[in-house]
Amino acid sequence: MRTQVAIIGGGPSGLLLGQLLHRQGIDTVILERKTKAYVLSRIRAGILEVGMVKLMREAGVGERMDRECFVHDGTLISYGDDLFGINFKEYTNTSVVVYGQTEVTRDLYAAREAAGAPIIYNASDVAIHDADGQTPHITYRVDGMEQRLDCDFIAGCDGFHGISRQTIPLSVRREYEKVYPFGWLGILSQTPPVNDELIYASSERGFALCSMRNANLSRYYIQCSLSDSPDDWSDTAFWDELRRRIPASQAEALVTGPSIEKSIAPLRSFVTEPMRWGRLFLCGDAAHIVPPTGAKGLNTAASDVHYLYHGLVQHYRDGDDEGIERYSERALARVWKAERFSWWFTNLMHRYPDQSEFDLKMQQAEIAFLRDNHNAQSVMAQNYVGLPY
Ligand code: APR
Ligand code: PHB
Repeated sequence: MRTQVAIIGGGPSGLLLGQLLHRQGIDTVILERKTKAYVLSRIRAGILEVGMVKLMREAGVGERMDRECFVHDGTLISYGDDLFGINFKEYTNTSVVVYGQTEVTRDLYAAREAAGAPIIYNASDVAIHDADGQTPHITYRVDGMEQRLDCDFIAGCDGFHGISRQTIPLSVRREYEKVYPFGWLGILSQTPPVNDELIYASSERGFALCSMRNANLSRYYIQCSLSDSPDDWSDTAFWDELRRRIPASQAEALVTGPSIEKSIAPLRSFVTEPMRWGRLFLCGDAAHIVPPTGAKGLNTAASDVHYLYHGLVQHYRDGDDEGIERYSERALARVWKAERFSWWFTNLMHRYPDQSEFDLKMQQAEIAFLRDNHNAQSVMAQNYVGLPY
């Protein structure tokens, strides 16, 4: 089999890239290790920056999102009972939208199926060959049969545990990592959100986040120990702990109910450089991870897709390789800024096991500065709505 762009990974990065390229008449084949049902069962953050919203529309998959999403003009931040807002609209004249990543993925699958573009599920033993040579190709197995896919370019959209990044030799590849000493315990519940806006809450007992998917579906998180397991936390224990970490006014308004999903996610910052090796391009979680504070994961994947998409269109339409040659440099410049913001917001809001009294005072002072200072709020707002591509 032959295609122009072979895409490894059918998560949001691979699907969005495939859909954008398809609209420009560029052929792709997506190789996905799992099934569609598995990919759709993963629950991830649900905040889309304006750049991602525009890409979804450009890919022809904005219709349901535009109809069902919730526009958020700001967010709330609390420390103990002190609650204040940051108005994105006032500082940036833009907003973010709440639309779950699962819904994004579902819409992208539907569009790919409607276009009749190929996705090969249950592809195992995927291996990349000659990415830095003249005959790039991929081998893989389906139902035990070895297959070969020849292509012009390979997009490595296979997430943090994929094989694409590992294909880049260690003599070329450099990795930067920070692992945080806590996790997030998250639950999904069929209850109305406690507030119209998200609440990022810092407290003596640790961080909490009140988020949502729609008018009757809420997503809540509490900072937890890495040694905890979701089974250690009954629903009642979760709700009690959440109430203690958010302002009393919010705790009183909180509507609780049975959890329909409960899981723990570790927090990590990670970047690999370069994001291109010959004809292989890394996109999204394959190249970088952010801690979820600020919801930059999907949005950073989207900016990679934007740069790669434009580079490939420039190549096929104009015969100009400037975009693909500068892909890594452009993508990384923005990635590092999103990494910085996610790291800063994580440090600001969480309790650390080895935190001294002095460290705690510094956090409190910084949160108070953010509450009182318009410039600090403007910086926060610009980063939260998303830096320009
Ligand atoms: N071969 C084929 N497919 C693979 C392989 C492999 N060897 N390894 C992984 N995959 C698939 C996974 O099954 C998954 O469906 O690649 C896909 C990668 O999807 P994601 O992990 O969702 O990564 P990405 O598409 O870059 O999306 C980024 O998702 O993880 C969140 O926070 C992240 O929101 C961000 C977004
Ligand atoms: C979520 O809704 O899951 C969510 C929202 C904002 C974040 C992280 C996660 O910063």
